[in-house]
Amino acid sequence: MRRAACQVLLGNWTGSSTVPSHQLYPHQWSWDSAFIAIGLRHLSPVRAQQEVETLLAAQWGDGRVPHIVFNRAVPLDAYFPSPDFWRSSSAGAAAGAPRTTETSGVVQPPVHALAAWLVHSADPDTSARRGFLARVYPRLVAWHRYLADHRDLGGHGLAAVVHPWEPGMDNSPCWDGPLARVEPAAAGSFRRADLVHGSAADRPTDLDYRRYVRLAAEYRDHGYRDAEAPHSFAVEDPGFNALFIAAEYALARIAEALGGEAEPHRQRAAALTEALVERLWSPEAGQFLCRDLRAASGGRAARDGQGGRLVAERSAAGLLPLVAPQLPRPIVRTLLRTVSGEHYGLGTAVRLLPSYDLRGAAFDRHRYWRGPAWFNVNWLLERGLRRHGEEARADALAAEVLHAAAASGFAEYLDPYTGQGRGARGFSWTAALALDLLA
Ligand code: DGY
Repeated sequence: MRRAACQVLLGNWTGSSTVPSHQLYPHQWSWDSAFIAIGLRHLSPVRAQQEVETLLAAQWGDGRVPHIVFNRAVPLDAYFPSPDFWRSSSAGAAAGAPRTTETSGVVQPPVHALAAWLVHSADPDTSARRGFLARVYPRLVAWHRYLADHRDLGGHGLAAVVHPWEPGMDNSPCWDGPLARVEPAAAGSFRRADLVHGSAADRPTDLDYRRYVRLAAEYRDHGYRDAEAPHSFAVEDPGFNALFIAAEYALARIAEALGGEAEPHRQRAAALTEALVERLWSPEAGQFLCRDLRAASGGRAARDGQGGRLVAERSAAGLLPLVAPQLPRPIVRTLLRTVSGEHYGLGTAVRLLPSYDLRGAAFDRHRYWRGPAWFNVNWLLERGLRRHGEEARADALAAEVLHAAAASGFAEYLDPYTGQGRGARGFSWTAALALDLLA
């Protein structure tokens, strides 16, 4: 299994970073690279450092880390939206987009500081000799500062996502409501490349894509400047913010290792944790929910006086705060019950955590983030279980993840009921996170 996982990572390595999959995702993706580095560190700590640093080299002047770094050797039509859609080096000039590297203009969850810390920990001597932490620390600080300064659209400290690609769970049913207000781009105004390699039943719909395109074009046409873009989609996502918290704690450890000040990072992590609980916890749902910042006032949840409205959909993103170390104990206990309750059925109805409520009206066991089980989410849950002392449950989940990764040929995601692989095979983060669990 270790050999097979290594083969996937070696095959997807391009010389300076790793593609998630040569066909479906032929460039470098931000949160993919973070998860990939976490596994790659067991194969080659130096390569894992390079993975993180290649991504961070494409950071914008305003601190954002783009969700895609394009490989200029790949033909334009291999992936949509391609560099000529994003036009980052020209349209993003005012926001400090790199001049010689083309990237997208949106971001993905900030897992990078956690990845950097874990990569360093795999071989601290080599890391110190190469000056890895000293180089990445200022970039990671600038990345977190971007999220804190430019993305607190709700005004209470949490980072908002402004496109469904940003939380990484593109077509989660949580976005159906917020997206319904977005005017779709004209049908036929673009050509999807994903359907050449992926089955249409496993991917987002054309209508979803028309809205993704509209939002991205709107952001681009406002120079990717957050103060000026209309951001007609703006959501506080518990998964994105939980990873921000975990990353801020990782940054504290990095600062300590460099002999710097860790306390400001711990303080921000604590403040984020408080805001997460205050704004996104739903005792009725027994989990965290997304907050739609653009929802019109009126309606039940809007009366909580927090601005916007909680989205009444259960997604696995709402369980990811289990990775946050300082979560209040009663909330941890509730989340632990929810994981194995009727909505997620872990250990009873299914072997891996599904991405969305098994009983939700929008549940679709094959379609991307509307039900399938994903390996990064399960890896994060395994970590969360362990953090909160649930060793036996974490061991059981790790065993299921390893079994499913091998049996599916390192699939991108799985039908949660049958374990059948969906999407790409030989998918990098699946192989990487399996390697990490094996270590
Ligand atoms: C895709 O292209 O499907 C990604 O999920 C968006 O980054």
